[in-house]
Amino acid sequence: MRIGLLTGGGDCPGLNAVLRAVTKSLIRQCGAEVIGIEDGFLGLIERRVRPLGWDDVSGILAIGGTILGTSNTASPFAWRGADVSADVVAYQRELGLDALVAIGGDGTMTIAARLGAVGGVPMVGVPKTIDNDIAGCERSFGFDTAVATVTDALERVQTTGQSHGRVMIVETMGRYAGWIALEAGIAGAADVILLPEIDYDVARIAEVCRARSARRRATLVCIAEGAKPAGGAMTVERTVAGSPDPIRLGGVAHRLRAQLQPLLASEVRATVLGHVQRGGSPTPFDRVLATQYGNEAARLLRRGEFGRMVTLQGGRLSSVALASVAGQNRCVPADHALLACAREIGVCLG
Ligand code: F6P
Repeated sequence: MRIGLLTGGGDCPGLNAVLRAVTKSLIRQCGAEVIGIEDGFLGLIERRVRPLGWDDVSGILAIGGTILGTSNTASPFAWRGADVSADVVAYQRELGLDALVAIGGDGTMTIAARLGAVGGVPMVGVPKTIDNDIAGCERSFGFDTAVATVTDALERVQTTGQSHGRVMIVETMGRYAGWIALEAGIAGAADVILLPEIDYDVARIAEVCRARSARRRATLVCIAEGAKPAGGAMTVERTVAGSPDPIRLGGVAHRLRAQLQPLLASEVRATVLGHVQRGGSPTPFDRVLATQYGNEAARLLRRGEFGRMVTLQGGRLSSVALASVAGQNRCVPADHALLACAREIGVCLG
C-alpha cells in the first residue's frame, strides 16, 4: 500500500503528532509506504513530494507547525486562474498512490472531497484547526493549545490592567466562530466575552466597565476577531484566504477601544494576540487527540473506508462523510451550555 500524506490550510499545533501517528501506524500495521506531500495541495500541483519513514517522524510529536509545510492558497481547482485538477489526478496516479490522507480544515476537506469526485485517489480527512469550527467534529486538535495560550495571555493582561485600573481588551482568532474566545474567556476570567455569534452593544459594555471601575477593578474583555457591534460590519484588516465568501477579520480590539474610550474615564488598552495562538508545542490534550486521529485515519485506510473524515462525537472517535463537512462551519449555538453558564456567573456576552 502506498499512501500520500499532506497538511493543508493554516498550520496549528499537533500537525506533526498526526503525521507521526499516521506514518507509524501504517508502517507498523501493514508495512505501507508513506509519501509526504510538501506544502499541502501546492506539492501536488508543483510535484514536490518526499518519502516519510519511521525515522522521519520520530521525535516530532511535541514540535509545533508541520514538517511537511502547508499552504492555504493552493487549490487544484483554481490555481493561478486555471483548473489544474486533471494534472493533479494524473500525478497521484504516477506516484502510484492508493489513497491520500489530507489533514486540514474546511477548505482542505472541500478540496479533498472535490478531488475524489473528479477521479482523484480515495481520501481520508483529519480535522485540524485552532478555531474548532469544523462541522461534524466536536474537537479539532490545536484548539486546546490555542485556548491555553489565550488563557495565559488574559491572566497576564489582567494583572497589568488591575495595577492601572484599566479596561483591557484582548482579541483572539477564530474566524466566523467564537469557540476560542468563549472557552479562553471563561478560563481566563474575562468580565466581557464577545463572539461573532452575538452582536454586542457598546453602551452595555461601557456600563460593565464603569461599574467595575467604581469598585477599583480592572475590566477584562475577550473579543473574537469575527465579533461586531449590533448594526455594524466586520472589520477590514485581514481576508481569510480560501473562504467561500471572503469576509474580513481582525482589528476588532482596536475598533472596540475607539468606541469605548469616549464613554469611559478609565484608560482602555487593546492587545491583538494573532499568530501566537497558532504556534508552539501542542498541549498534552492535543498531542493525545492528534495521535488518536492519526491512528484512526490509518485504521480507516486499512479497512478501505474512504471519503471519510475522522472525528470526535460524544467524546468517542468515529468518522463522517467528507462530503457532509465540506464548506460547512460549526459556530457556537445560541443554546450552548457554556453561554448559559457564562451569563449565570455574571459575564457580559455583549
Ligand atoms: O483558521 C485558522 C486561523 O488562524 C483563523 O483563526 C484566522 O482568522 C486565520 O486562520 C488567519 O489566517 P492567516 O494565517 O492566513 O492570516
